Order: sequence, then C-alpha cells, then structure tokens
Amino acid sequence: MDLGITDKVAVVTGGARGIGLAIVQRLMEEGCRTVAVDIDPSAASNLPDGAIFMACDVSDEQQCEQLVRDVDQQVGSLDILVNNAGIQSTLTLAEATVEDWERVLKVNLTSAFILSKLVVYDMKRRGWGRIINIGSMAGKVGGLTVSASYAGSKAGMMGLTKSVARTAAPQVTCNIICPAFISTAMTSSVTKAEYSRQIPVGRLGTCEEVAAAVAYLASTWTGYMTGEVLDLNGGMLMD
Ligand SMILES: NC(=O)c1ccc[n+]([C@@H]2O[C@H](COP(=O)([O-])OP(=O)(O)OC[C@H]3O[C@@H](n4cnc5c(N)ncnc54)[C@H](O)[C@@H]3O)[C@@H](O)[C@H]2O)c1
Repeated sequence: MDLGITDKVAVVTGGARGIGLAIVQRLMEEGCRTVAVDIDPSAASNLPDGAIFMACDVSDEQQCEQLVRDVDQQVGSLDILVNNAGIQSTLTLAEATVEDWERVLKVNLTSAFILSKLVVYDMKRRGWGRIINIGSMAGKVGGLTVSASYAGSKAGMMGLTKSVARTAAPQVTCNIICPAFISTAMTSSVTKAEYSRQIPVGRLGTCEEVAAAVAYLASTWTGYMTGEVLDLNGGMLMD
C-alpha cells in the first residue's frame, strides 16, 4: 500500500536508538526525508545511510527552536513530527524527588508540548501535517516497573495529544501510540518469563511493530483519525 508520504520531511526525536531508530528506518523506506534527532551524538553512527542527524536536547526550548529552524533551512518544511524521545525512572514513590519528577516530565512531556507548538501552525498554514506521540500503557494503568513520574508523563501525553488534535484540525492530525514491553534497551531488565504469561500474544513487541503503526498514522490514509490513543501491547490491556 502506498502511504502517500514520499518526499515528506519527517523529524523523529530520540531517533538514534531503539524504537526511534526503527521509526527513522521505516519512514525512510516510505520515501520520507527523515531527520533523526537525539541528545546523544555518538548514537548517530547507528543510523542508516541517507538519514540526517541533528543533535538536540528536546527538553530545552531554545535547542528545539534552533532545531526547527535548522530542519526548515537544511531539509525543508516539516510535515511529520514524531515525539518519541523518552527516559525512564524506576524510583519508587518513596525514593522519588521533585528533581526526578521534573527531569522525566521535561524530557517525556514538555518536549512534545514545545515541539508541537513550534510546528503545528506552520503545518496548518501549509494544509497538511502529522504529529505522532509515543506514550505508554503506563500512562493508562500506572507504572508496572517504572516510576510515577514516567506514568504521569505518559498520561499527560494523552491529554496533550487530544488538545493538540483539536487545535491542529482540520488540516493536521495528532495521535498517540501507547506501547508496552517493546524489546529495547529500556526493557532489557524485563525477563521473558516474567511478562510473557501476562501478554496474550506471548512475547515482547518489536521496534518495527511500533514503527509500522507510526507509518500508518503518518500516511495520507488516516486524515479522519485524530486525538486517537492507539494501544500496542500484545493484548495486555484491552480497553
Ligand atoms: N521500550 C518499551 O517497552 C516502551 C514502552 C512504552 C513506551 N516506550 C516509549 O518509547 C519511546 C522510545 O523508547 P525506547 O525503548 O526506544 O528507549 P531508548 O532508551 O532505547 O531510546 C530513547 C532515545 O531517546 C534519546 N533521548 C533521551 N533523552 C533525550 C533528550 N532530552 N533529547 C533528545 N533525545 C533524547 C536517547 O538518547 C535514546 O536514543 C520512549 O518515549 C518510551 O517511553 C517504550
């Protein structure tokens, strides 16, 4: 199926590793001019030939403003934004500090607020755009292995998605994917035996499966879907 996004300019935050890297690869396969944005320049060597790398700490407003200017000048007007960058904390509520709470909220949620605000009005003016956020099942059920800050950031991401979707309409859609237990560095401590009995599909998810959902939401076929929360959890949560 032609997704209709050849030559679109896509930016994927946290794009040099894990799920973000798979999203970069998939959007490139669909013909997008794809920018992988990451705080870690050393991870740029993971990227496939042809991917564009831009270093940025997406929790920093000024760096995000510079990023959007650089993409516009060096690659073209931004059509598809994937807010994927995220960090985890496993501190219990008793251990957690306000510093930890704010650090996780800034990277996981404030970054998506900053970038969405920076790009959505230009997308609307140009008549088309896609904003795709990566949330988590933890935002719906609380953290099973992660902190309240992580679950809170991902719950906030759902509210942000729906608010941006209302502003973005009718030209631009904004949706959120809520994965759980995708096989990456973030879940390296999760043992198969520990969780596969709780997942009806019987295994962890793959980065490529998240990337396929992103490609679908980025496509020209999904103009009637906005503000949607798309679960990707092997049936662990059916709501
Ligand atoms: N792996 C899972 O099971 C799972 C489940 C649900 C949701 N998620 C979400 O998916 C997204 C990707 O997760 P992953 O498992 O690939 O994680 P990962 O740790 O493998 O990759 C995250 C990437 O984000 C980058 N990053 C971190 N802070 C950044 C910042 N301030 N600015 C720019 N880049 C930054 C990192 O350098 C890294 O390359 C995250 O938002 C995560 O919360 C993952």
